[in-house]
Amino acid sequence: MPAFTAAAPGKVILFGEHAVVYDQPAIAVPVHQVQARASIFADLRSKPGEILIHAPDIGLESRLDDLDPQHPFRLMVEVLTRRLKIAHLPAFQLKISSTIPIAAGMGSGAAVTVACLRAISAFAGRALSNDEISMLAYEVEKKYHGTPSGIDNTVVAFACPIFFIRGQPFEMLPVAEPFSLLIGDSGVRSSTAEVVGDLRQRRNQDLDRYEDLFHQIGQIVLQARKPIEHGPWQALGPWMDQNHELLRALDVSSEALDRLVSAARQAGALGAKLCGAGRGGNMIALVDTDHIDQVARALYAAGAVRVICTRLQPSGKLE
Ligand code: PMV
Repeated sequence: MPAFTAAAPGKVILFGEHAVVYDQPAIAVPVHQVQARASIFADLRSKPGEILIHAPDIGLESRLDDLDPQHPFRLMVEVLTRRLKIAHLPAFQLKISSTIPIAAGMGSGAAVTVACLRAISAFAGRALSNDEISMLAYEVEKKYHGTPSGIDNTVVAFACPIFFIRGQPFEMLPVAEPFSLLIGDSGVRSSTAEVVGDLRQRRNQDLDRYEDLFHQIGQIVLQARKPIEHGPWQALGPWMDQNHELLRALDVSSEALDRLVSAARQAGALGAKLCGAGRGGNMIALVDTDHIDQVARALYAAGAVRVICTRLQPSGKLE
């Protein structure tokens, strides 16, 4: 029996990825159908500070101290012990599992970090608030992949729809009417750090063009916020299509993602776009309940390796 278990959901960015790194707003929602889970088993026989990591999904079983100093698990324990002002945590085994696809734009790294921080801080008798968990997860993300906006750790730690601007307090986004999203996985893995880094280089060579594209994306986010908060949800579709076109202009889409986006629209989706860093990973499609099966089938036929259906509820909960 684990002493403590904690979980964190996956996420998708509805609007505003990439532009959010350059201070434009973005909207993200949790996806509870997939989650990361961390369980702590106290180890009474080993001396304090001994931590054994068991993460079968990624084929990892190791003492924490034997991992590379830059490994996200080491960084996570480091930021936590610094925050708690504890030199050595009591010895424990940490079992990590996740159903969130890795490197696929669904916040898998942030969710694993958040679940671990929650479980370990509770085990240490110092359970932290969502705010603190999110801040610590952001520290890990920064060390691990460069210039994250902070949207992933925030939506995953608070597990509710958010309106987010980098460096500002986020807003929980009330949802007026329920609506459904299909999330289609291209099966292609893509490194967020690489895509963000590549975009930064291109942006530095043509500031005006990229700042204009980021600004246009930011304007879409401001417009798309209204139908989420006040309805009608169907109005989100065209904004998703326009956001996807701008992501294509940023050259972060791919043939596989464009194929899934077109297939979803042809099968009756009201709008579709890639989500997350792009070049691979997932796309999302806005669907009315009558078209869910049809659009899901079209996504598989167009090469999706997995399709998840998630529904936003007015309470902010997804089912
Ligand atoms: O691919 P993901 O799930 O890590 O999302 C990245 C979102 C970006 O806007 C591209 C980067 C960021 O830090 O916001």
